[in-house]
Amino acid sequence: MMKKVFVFGSLNMDLVVNSPCLPQAGETMYGTGFFTNPGGKGANQAVACGRLGAETYMGGAVGADSFGETLMEGLKGCGVNTGAIRVIPDCSSGIAVILVTEGDNRIILDGGANGRVMAEDADRLLERAGEGDIFLCQLENPVEVIGYAMKAARRRGMYVILNPAPMHVMVSEYLPCCDMLVLNETEFSMLGKDSLAAGSRRLLDMGIRDVVLTLGAKGYCHTTRGEIVCAEGVPVKAVDTTAAGDTFCGALAASLAEGKTVGEALQFANKAAAITVTRRGAQCSIPTFQEIFDRYGG
Ligand code: RIB
Repeated sequence: MMKKVFVFGSLNMDLVVNSPCLPQAGETMYGTGFFTNPGGKGANQAVACGRLGAETYMGGAVGADSFGETLMEGLKGCGVNTGAIRVIPDCSSGIAVILVTEGDNRIILDGGANGRVMAEDADRLLERAGEGDIFLCQLENPVEVIGYAMKAARRRGMYVILNPAPMHVMVSEYLPCCDMLVLNETEFSMLGKDSLAAGSRRLLDMGIRDVVLTLGAKGYCHTTRGEIVCAEGVPVKAVDTTAAGDTFCGALAASLAEGKTVGEALQFANKAAAITVTRRGAQCSIPTFQEIFDRYGG
């Protein structure tokens, strides 16, 4: 039976500009191709789930402004249920200023309403969740609220996936509440200076069942008790890596909700993320199921 996906996290309007290199302190330089598009790690992951056909619910907060309206409309357009997203008066929606240089991005966030998310928002989102459903979260909201939400999801017997981005020093306290941790090399190194094998073993010893280290163009490594499986990245010409990690997490969750094994879901997520990096922007670059099927055969 298909499971539902519940995403708890951030919504941002992304303000994107390309630049040939980074300006020095006090320097002004010209960029090109400015555009805005809906983003935020939570919303990106929810959009990926929705576009890939999962029954998806999102919880979080936006401000009572035009960015907030656009962010909500974007999610609804992908079939995501937004009933648990709170609109906060007198507060701006989250924004991300994104500088894209040679296919890589640098992001400055003003969290706005994302910083005002509360435990009650998580409770509201989880009202419709049941045993075996997937709970997916990140760290662009207050870490203690995310920790509360993970514990609440665990109590309901959900499968809890944490993408600890951006990394937060306090996250270690909550790691035993997740079943799967999906993180990149920078985030992994911020949890300890050990090798992949030793670092993953430490995480598994906390009770985490699956540790997935994403390696960008080089693919990913999946560690479970007694086994490490690494897979190559799907070769593509990268234009903009924004939301590649979010697409990976969303596609993984959607695929697990469909009943796929973790191994199958990871392979699917790898293909979905590869398509995202071939296009500019966050939510506008996330593929549909049909696109992934047409290009890679599912
Ligand atoms: O992961 C990409 C996202 O990070 C962007 O959409 C931006 O909003 C930031 O939250």
